[in-house]
Amino acid sequence: MTLLSVNINKIALLRNSRGTNVPDVSLAALNIERFGGQGITVHPRPDQRHATYRDVEVLKPLLSSEFNVEGYPTRDFLDLVCRVKPHQVTLVPDPPEALTSNAGWDTQTHGAFLKEVVEELHGHGIRVSIFMDTNLSLYEQAARTGSDRIELYTEQYAVRYPTNPEAAVAPYREAAIRAHTLGLGINAGHDLSSLNLRYFAHEVPHLLEVSIGHALICEALYLGLENTVQLYLRQLV
Ligand code: PXP
Repeated sequence: MTLLSVNINKIALLRNSRGTNVPDVSLAALNIERFGGQGITVHPRPDQRHATYRDVEVLKPLLSSEFNVEGYPTRDFLDLVCRVKPHQVTLVPDPPEALTSNAGWDTQTHGAFLKEVVEELHGHGIRVSIFMDTNLSLYEQAARTGSDRIELYTEQYAVRYPTNPEAAVAPYREAAIRAHTLGLGINAGHDLSSLNLRYFAHEVPHLLEVSIGHALICEALYLGLENTVQLYLRQLV
């Protein structure tokens, strides 16, 4: 079974645009859980333009589903997550000014750094996932970091899916098989949507979790949050 973790960064972005607490990020997270969402993801960036560090602190005691916090492992980020202890931290390599995550880790170059970070997070009982594209030559080194899981960076899948679904998914299938062989769990995220999710989940083995934000929140503008969460859940059965 593949869990749906809803990334609520876009709800925080909307809230921040007015400087009030509307829409209420905590209420949205609780409603997503009530509608069947099996996890909540936030990605507090250094400029805190979406979810803030405070959101991470406020959400943790409220949530009953899996809490996944994504981010580049700066000292501030690590201090935050080691204090709050979400169920999972997903490490991403993007620079502070990035609009959104745009690459997987180069585990050849950053393997030693990642290993240290993974050890620190494990010391606080936090499961770790690292964001990876489908370059299989980096996977052995990914496993050596001690990370529990990888999150497959699915932007290229989403771009190629409309013209050639099989060609789009093939590298991800290979990557999942390789990661599984190395003892890594598999998550996925980025540009997954109600159009491309079912095929991905069907074709990629060992998929434990998908984390979806932008498309889901955009579709919720038309369908409502409850219908949209349930629509996404149906793609995963
Ligand atoms: N995974 C990671 C590491 C991300 O940075 C993001 C975007 O914040 C997502 C998943 C979700 O991507 P999307 O918003 O396109 O669904």
